[in-house]
Amino acid sequence: ADGRGRAAAVITVSDRAARGTYADASGPALADLLEGRGYAVAPVRVVPDERALIEEAIRDAVAQDMALVLTTGGTGFSSRDVTPEATTAVCERLAPGIPEAMRTASAAITERACLSREVAGICGRTLIVNLPGSPKAAVENLEAVISPIAHGLEILR
Ligand code: MTE
Repeated sequence: ADGRGRAAAVITVSDRAARGTYADASGPALADLLEGRGYAVAPVRVVPDERALIEEAIRDAVAQDMALVLTTGGTGFSSRDVTPEATTAVCERLAPGIPEAMRTASAAITERACLSREVAGICGRTLIVNLPGSPKAAVENLEAVISPIAHGLEILR
């Protein structure tokens, strides 16, 4: 499959999941999708909606030379939603075409697609992609870009 055994990490960003108020469904759903595409997926990390902790989790994955890092959650308009800001702080170069493609595909599913502030970018040899928080939205957005991402990783690595 197109992941070619490359290492991938999934970070769930959610105050409630981090507190254990509810079980994280989005992280495991994304990990399953990646595994089905031939990626070697590290155990899902769950962090609260705190910019410093999100940045730290992303930087850890970069330090482990992950090819791909997905985040899920914290991309909306709530005052606690800071995943795009944390991601932008870590990235050396942004890849705006990825969120553009995700929002274009998602707009055919829900007019609320435009409310996700998700970003994507590159730090070193690692591609980082934000996804919305609900399992449905996360999977729909990833499916829209998973094939071109594989080609992007070929070039990046
Ligand atoms: N994209 C898809 N494909 N499907 C969805 O259901 N939900 C939207 C949007 N993108 C959605 C979607 C909604 S309602 C919001 S508020 C934003 O993603 C941000 O989600 P987040 O705050 O959980 O990150």
